[in-house]
Amino acid sequence: MEYLFSLEIIYLIASVTYIMGLKMLGHPETARKGNLIAAFGMGLAIFGTIFLYKGEVASLIYILIAIAIAIGTIIGWGVAKKVDMTKMPELVSLFNGMGGASAALIGLIEFSHYTGDQISIFTILAGVIIGSISFSGSMIAWGKLNGTLNKPIRLPAYNILNNVILVAILAFATFIVLTGADSQLFLYLLFFAALAYGVLFVMPIGGADMPVVISLLNSFTGLAAAFGGFLYGNMVMLTGGILVGSAGTILTFAMCDAMNRPLASVIFGAFGEGTTGSDASKQTSQGSIKKTTPSDAAILMNYANQVIIVPGYGLAVAQAQHVIHELEVLLEKKGVKVKYAIHPVAGRMPGHMNVLLAETNVDYDKLIEMDDINSEFQNTDAVLVVGANDVVNPAAHNDPASPIYGMPILEVVNAKSIIINKRSMNPGYAGIENELFFNQKTSMLFGDAKDVLTKLVQELKNM
Ligand code: TAP
Repeated sequence: MEYLFSLEIIYLIASVTYIMGLKMLGHPETARKGNLIAAFGMGLAIFGTIFLYKGEVASLIYILIAIAIAIGTIIGWGVAKKVDMTKMPELVSLFNGMGGASAALIGLIEFSHYTGDQISIFTILAGVIIGSISFSGSMIAWGKLNGTLNKPIRLPAYNILNNVILVAILAFATFIVLTGADSQLFLYLLFFAALAYGVLFVMPIGGADMPVVISLLNSFTGLAAAFGGFLYGNMVMLTGGILVGSAGTILTFAMCDAMNRPLASVIFGAFGEGTTGSDASKQTSQGSIKKTTPSDAAILMNYANQVIIVPGYGLAVAQAQHVIHELEVLLEKKGVKVKYAIHPVAGRMPGHMNVLLAETNVDYDKLIEMDDINSEFQNTDAVLVVGANDVVNPAAHNDPASPIYGMPILEVVNAKSIIINKRSMNPGYAGIENELFFNQKTSMLFGDAKDVLTKLVQELKNM
């Protein structure tokens, strides 16, 4: 009976919940439940460790753990409850950074306890280096996502500098492992060098390369936690770390694919090249634009056979997901076929549009990935672009100097007519002008997405 309630069984159950949770996160319909199941498993593992641990633990430690859990829960719960949907990517970056910091702190505390044990010291240093890079890199990513650090800052020869620092960190860590040096000074030198590398690594990244970095940092945190699990021989920490690390790695490859960047150039710093946002925004405008009204746009869509909606970051800003669904249902009732074109990096986090549209009752079969929908634009009467910009910018195909050059885009330019809703002529995340706005087939429908879509729905109802 005692065996049934042993820590190993608890860890096994927790590990299974992580795998189930991860699997369920793969589909919008089950994602919410998957998240809860994995969180339950995490809670089980934490409380199992506290209450079933067989070693000697001073009661002060229990009090400190309880205080830490209480503070963490209150802050985490409060922030997550209050955060706007548009601020979600920043929050995820912040949480990811905290994971990295925790893994690094484990290494800092445990280093002196494992002197002479080469494998453990290797594990500890790996956790310190990767965790610190993940922490400081995620903090910079957080600043970039919330707009505080919206311009890429590049030191002269930053690529060479970054790679030299990385090699120096790895060489120094190898030296500590091989010589068995147990100096705390060395450890802290390594720690601060890794923190500095994280900053220098993410700082120069601009344009549309952030998605790759964010997923790479996710995988770093998982890896750092896995080293912690390996050090302690803690199976649930190891499993959790490996799952986060491998999921992050798969996501990194998916993002590399989506952004058309080879992973090697991401890791060794040759990315974020091209015109920076600030330079690019100095481009001269490319002619005149054509404006339209909700009434004219409604007429165009009403008589179309097929309408493709392209959602982007602005849809999340406006919180217009419910009204866009209402528009879709209304059009379908009028016999117009409606689909959503989903770009893998639309919004500010992987799957942002899927998460956003999952909040309303959009039929998931209507969410079509970029590769599957691109061939359909040429047979589509009207495309409605709502708060998307970079993901439909033809500069990705036409302008080698552009920071998004090479990124696959939704080829809305091939549609028969294009309606673009945004509030102004301001650029999107990459900071560059969009020649699509000046295309003969394009009509600009200016205004906040929620207001404009509400008017469109009204116009369609009146027809
Ligand atoms: P963006 O290119 O950022 O464009 C969004 C557009 O929405 C803006 O041009 C803005 O124009 C408009 N907008 C903002 N608020 C609006 C509102 N209330 N109503 C209507 N329009 C509004 O977005 P995108 O096309 O989704 O592309 C995503 C970009 O973010 C890419 O460059 C991508 O690389 C980058 N990024 C993505 C991720 C991930 S993982 N998805 C992570 C980091 C960065 P106005 O101001 O004129 O309204």
